[in-house]
Amino acid sequence: MEETSCNIIRFVRNKDPSRRTEAVVFDSCSCVKIEPTGSEGRYSIGFYTIRIVGGLVEIRDNNDNLLFREIEFKTQKDRAMWSHVLVEDARLYGFGGKDGPLDKRKWRRIVLRNTDPTMRYRSPEADPLYLNIPFYIMAKKGYAVGVYIDSPSYMEVHIDKKKGVITVEKIGTDLDVYIILGSSVKEVLDGYVKITGKPYMPPLWVLGFHQSKWSYKSEEEVMFIAKKFREYNIPCDAIHLDIDYMDGFKPFTWHPGRFPNPKHMIEQLHSMGFKVVVIVDPYIKIDDRDKLFLEGINKDYFVKDKKGGIFVARGWPGKSAMPNFLREEVRKWWGELYLRFYREYGVDGFKNDMNEPSTETRLRSYLGLGVKPKNMVFCRNGECLEIEKVGNIYALLECMGVYSTLRKTGRRFFILSRSGFAGIQRYSANWTGDIWSTWRHIRASVSMLLNMSLSGLFFIGADIGGFFPPFKKTNRKLYLRWIQLGVFYPFMRAHYAKARPPQEPWCFGKEALEIARRYIELRYSLLPYIYSLFRRAHIDGELIFRPLFYDFPYDEKAYDIDDQFMFGPSILVAPILHRKDQREIYLPGGYWLDYWSGEVYSGPKSISYTADLSIIPIFVRDGGILVFQEPQRYVGEKKVEKYDILVFSKERAGEFVIYEDDGISYDFERGIYTETKIMASPTQIQIKILHRGYEGVQHLRLRIFMEMKPKEVILDDSKYRFSYHDRWLEIETTKTNHEIRIEI
Ligand code: GLC
Repeated sequence: MEETSCNIIRFVRNKDPSRRTEAVVFDSCSCVKIEPTGSEGRYSIGFYTIRIVGGLVEIRDNNDNLLFREIEFKTQKDRAMWSHVLVEDARLYGFGGKDGPLDKRKWRRIVLRNTDPTMRYRSPEADPLYLNIPFYIMAKKGYAVGVYIDSPSYMEVHIDKKKGVITVEKIGTDLDVYIILGSSVKEVLDGYVKITGKPYMPPLWVLGFHQSKWSYKSEEEVMFIAKKFREYNIPCDAIHLDIDYMDGFKPFTWHPGRFPNPKHMIEQLHSMGFKVVVIVDPYIKIDDRDKLFLEGINKDYFVKDKKGGIFVARGWPGKSAMPNFLREEVRKWWGELYLRFYREYGVDGFKNDMNEPSTETRLRSYLGLGVKPKNMVFCRNGECLEIEKVGNIYALLECMGVYSTLRKTGRRFFILSRSGFAGIQRYSANWTGDIWSTWRHIRASVSMLLNMSLSGLFFIGADIGGFFPPFKKTNRKLYLRWIQLGVFYPFMRAHYAKARPPQEPWCFGKEALEIARRYIELRYSLLPYIYSLFRRAHIDGELIFRPLFYDFPYDEKAYDIDDQFMFGPSILVAPILHRKDQREIYLPGGYWLDYWSGEVYSGPKSISYTADLSIIPIFVRDGGILVFQEPQRYVGEKKVEKYDILVFSKERAGEFVIYEDDGISYDFERGIYTETKIMASPTQIQIKILHRGYEGVQHLRLRIFMEMKPKEVILDDSKYRFSYHDRWLEIETTKTNHEIRIEI
């Protein structure tokens, strides 16, 4: 056992503790190591007491409250079984991308095996899905304990609700567990991020709107879509190219007939303000004339089968070999291919798909002709491991290789990954895969994304409008409700499958186009707020898309809400997730400002709210501060001249740090950024420059919600001009240290 930080305790069985997976970045060298003599012992660490009795661990706090207790550990053939107590009334969250209710205590069995569920995804019971993480949080009011199992092997978790026991059954006899103790989910997630790393800081354009389809099939079609966005003045930053841009679906190629001049096309798109994201699948066509295949064969870079030959997958290009990302040199090789593709054609981002790994093309899997991955064998340093021992880490290692190679350019890229593992937050965004165009799935997207957040993923989204089924168009109402919700996904992309009627924002009639435009514009107006949230995530591991109990840990009811969320600290979003325009909304304690009507509510209370199709219910928290800018058609279209800062501080004080940098390079790591803290209370606002390393926006317009007209506004000891209209006090000032007093 090892003490790694005062609230993280690691214990290792049947494994050399110096071995860690690539998911772990925590360097505990400076930490105290405790070597238990035999399997008995008692240790005091910070606020906690750890007892080991009969080889089993028990952790209590200073007041002797039980926080964590093991019940059993045993090995059987090549498996380990481990049980511990699930404290009464504690909810259970985590495990990665999971459908179904947010509280996983309601589940009986959870499977951790990265897989492509294909059409099974339609059912809420489909488990596992693409992205699984052996990390979970047990939480209730005043109590939160996290468990991270550092193993890439397949696992099953059984929950005995009645007895209050969790049993983990894993492949391999080792068990390497980090227990993270805290009084809130926030503290536990802090600990988890310490272990597996902070989310990466994306370039600013990535936070704009992305439009995607499987596939825009030719240069003409891509240009048509791009022009429509500009013609209709709908902001959009990225167009995604799906598998049909490739020649015979071979990675890093272009189809000569459909995309005869990709470099020129990308230049044109860039000049219109678009970025280009291309899909990459880890399938290399088995073909003796194919250069990439020959190189991989000669260097022995491919995944093997159990007999020592190449594992033959059925990928998009047909019979395919798959790179063995467990080896560092293969990751480098793969990364270099991306880099070359960028240098040659100027693409701006990559979508790493089918990296569970999915070893069968979709069509084959529907027809039941798929090749199952169970025969895959991954060799490195003379050791060969079957997929069930390492499979869950494949996508993480792929993204790790791609990210580190692209980083050398000094430019921030965009990587989107379907699968993943603990630590994937350091390299890529993730989405929820092939979600359906149904009311059930728009609803599921909220609880799934909340659960992904609680699994340490920050940069997440779902296919806006829904991806499947083929042949059928999403209905207009669902599309609009989804666009409205998507404004508040950390990653905002519309994407849909082949053989569906067109589903771009202008395909649902004039009124729908106006509504969609208005909401995409809202996203662009909110970019300074959103970018600042990403900075907080990057620096402090603070969640962006978060459950109500993250901000209201003492509100018992908040733990059960999974159809509303907080978007950063200031905005509560209660999306409409069904045909009806009415819904119940739970507002936790304190005042809430209805963003649209200006009505002030006082929580805790549930309200019934009717939102016609032009409205998604959003509320500003008391003490909430939002930062807006003029919407643009794409990031960087015009110089941003002014921030509009909305302040709602009725009773509670609040603060928000605005973050600015160049949005594209890594210069921020050398201090080239600016942080401006806005602190607000009902009668005072302070602007404080915390760090000035980048010029950014100078002009600030404060819009302060005040029920009564103030008598005077004092800025830095002098009377200052202001305007007051319809409960909004407006003050124009500059981005320097200021003290503003409001006399009422
Ligand atoms: C998978 C992906 C989807 C993509 C399709 C074709 O289904 O999840 O996003 O469009 O493959 O490449």
